Amino acid sequence: MPFGEMYTQIFENNRAWVAEMKGKDPDFFENLARAQNPDFLYIGCSDSRVPANVIMGVDPGQVFVHRNIANMVLATDLNVQSVIEYAVAHLDVKHIVVCGHYGCGGVKAAMQSADLGLLNPWLRTIRDVYRLHHDELQRLPEPQRFRKLVEFNVIEQCVNVAKACSVQRHWLVDHTPTVHGWVYDLHEGLLVDLDLDFEAVLERIRDVYRLDG
Ligand code: CO
Repeated sequence: MPFGEMYTQIFENNRAWVAEMKGKDPDFFENLARAQNPDFLYIGCSDSRVPANVIMGVDPGQVFVHRNIANMVLATDLNVQSVIEYAVAHLDVKHIVVCGHYGCGGVKAAMQSADLGLLNPWLRTIRDVYRLHHDELQRLPEPQRFRKLVEFNVIEQCVNVAKACSVQRHWLVDHTPTVHGWVYDLHEGLLVDLDLDFEAVLERIRDVYRLDG
């Protein structure tokens, strides 16, 4: 579809969607406008093929979303750290999901030796994940190595979520939020739960990363 047509189409789509939602529930937007109370924080990749609400099959209001290249959770990224703080301390989410996806361009780029300018420092943090699991990854042939790095990266970003002070503090009080690692398969459209044992992760890292007294 040419750009001009698609641009106009978006506003038509929007009006059709409003009509559809109001058809199901006349108060849908009024209720949503009052407040949000999502149980989930979703941290995923910016990739256009992995839209959080769509793959989860949930409506507006049900999931708080943060997306960036390769679903990274960096200590110095004020954006993701603010999202986590707000979701945990103010929205009181019960689950935090880090969702990667097989075929992730960010992860792939970090496995190559190209100089990508401004993207280098971002991708370098994925290379750090590679270094952590270097021997196991080197033993794998492609494409398994690529897939495994996507999975390792998700787990590592879950660990990074656990390092956040707000997450540790909240967990000590009422054992929420639980952190989950998922991978989305572009070919099948299916979500895979990596079955992260969050309590064990937290226990293991608190030796070094505990921030409460
Ligand atoms: Co990606």
